Amino acid sequence: MNISTASVTVRFGAVAALQDVSLEIPSGERRALIGPNGAGKTTLFDVITGARRPTSGRILLAGADVTPLSTWRRARLGLARTFQRSALFPTLTTAENLALAVRARMQTGWRIWPSRMERTVAMEVSSRLRAAGLAALAQRRAWTLAHGEQRALEIELALASQPRLLLLDEPMAGLSGEERQAAVARLRSLPPHVTLVLVEHDLDVVFAVAQRISVLDHGVLIADGTPAEIRADHRVQEVYLGRAD
Ligand SMILES: Nc1ncnc2c1ncn2[C@@H]1O[C@H](COP(=O)(O)OP(=O)(O)OP(=O)(O)O)[C@@H](O)[C@H]1O
Ligand SMILES: [Mg+2]
Repeated sequence: MNISTASVTVRFGAVAALQDVSLEIPSGERRALIGPNGAGKTTLFDVITGARRPTSGRILLAGADVTPLSTWRRARLGLARTFQRSALFPTLTTAENLALAVRARMQTGWRIWPSRMERTVAMEVSSRLRAAGLAALAQRRAWTLAHGEQRALEIELALASQPRLLLLDEPMAGLSGEERQAAVARLRSLPPHVTLVLVEHDLDVVFAVAQRISVLDHGVLIADGTPAEIRADHRVQEVYLGRAD
């Protein structure tokens, strides 16, 4: 599903979290969204998902203006997101968290014979547990999982909705090097039609996953290009890469 934002501005009082941001992300693209703390990355996700209305400007999903639509209506178009903070059900097990997500998708999608559904759900849950590297932790309650394991589960929950557009907000924050590699491999294995927008501070991850990169600074889109163009962009080096050194 392709996304475009047309001159999106979001103001919080005197602060412009986003200023006149116009972005085009074609269907199936792997896009990274980078920028310093407070640049407006999460706010951009909020306006794309409908969690926040822009002060001005429009959001288009698959060519349709969704600016007035609620979060759940946009989700039904095939949009999924993860949050900077955990959104797991802490007292359910890893497998139960996944089963809820799989069941939710099956119930809103095609109708399936109820007695068959649980078997289908169980089969999908076990294959997703393997894909996420969580098979050994299936019966553990989510709150007892290590941080990296929780993040891997969150990504898998988002994938379980079989989104056409997936927005990941710092999914790798706090992960070890090995966990990052596993998460990068999982993202690279996404079906090609899925549009991915990844907010990430780790530039190694960004360059490993993204086909194009958009850079926000103080709410302004300062650059938009291929990884090679972004690496070479002096303004980006100044405001972002320079500070990361
Ligand atoms: N609910 C709010 N009320 C007031 N100001 C807000 C609110 N949410 C965000 N802001 C401000 O908007 C700006 C953009 O914030 P946002 O959270 O989108 O940045 P970000 O790029 O996601 O940063 P980070 O990398 O730290 O997650 C910041 O100046 C922030 O303080
Ligand atoms: Mg943020």
